Amino acid sequence: MDQNLVIAIDGPAASGKGTLARRLADYYHLPHLDTGLTYRAVAHKMLSEGLALDDAALAAEAAQQVDLSNLDKGPLSAHAVADAASQVAVYPQVRRILVDKQRQFANQPGGAVMDGRDIGTVVCPNADVKLYITASPQVRAARRLRDIESRGGTASVEDILADIVKRDERDSSRADSPMRPAQDAHLLDTSEMSIEAAFLAARAIVEDVLAKQEKTHYMSR
Ligand code: C5P
Repeated sequence: MDQNLVIAIDGPAASGKGTLARRLADYYHLPHLDTGLTYRAVAHKMLSEGLALDDAALAAEAAQQVDLSNLDKGPLSAHAVADAASQVAVYPQVRRILVDKQRQFANQPGGAVMDGRDIGTVVCPNADVKLYITASPQVRAARRLRDIESRGGTASVEDILADIVKRDERDSSRADSPMRPAQDAHLLDTSEMSIEAAFLAARAIVEDVLAKQEKTHYMSR
């Protein structure tokens, strides 16, 4: 019996993929890696050491030092870090180094839930289930604003929307591993869904795929 389960979740910023990934990981008792944090860790190191973001060799050195067991979400969640992350994410050297680390995580015994932009296409092309989560830019901006406000911050929805559109454009137009759904990905638009409804829809897709693969031992966990 195949005891391995790898779930790949991709999608743009603030689509809800992170929340879904955590919920699915919890449900299936699998470890979870938010691969965005690895790009953010590179960006954060460069920003805090005053290194030029357009230096691909320095970014690759910073990528070598990323330790998956030590990704502190706090300092990595800043807005400036997200933008810088999408700048260093265009460098093929950086991607190669981080993808290698991400694959090691995905290949651990039992499997994993991975979320990012290129999981179904590049990092885990053989994942058991691939989900591509979307939501309209307006809905994503409103969600991001609620998120910021719930942590005591302030921002304008227009600025957030402009940032989301800019980051989507950069992430989907880069030459190496652009953000896009894998051919065999299941698309889920969460624009009109609550977190709970999105989780139930995602779980239903996973269960359906597992039933077809006869991996039914996962279904009643
Ligand atoms: O998901 P998150 O917003 O934390 O990602 C930050 C940036 O890292 C993205 O905008 C993208 O440029 C990059 N990224 C990537 N590939 C991934 C995950 C994130 O290029 N698998």
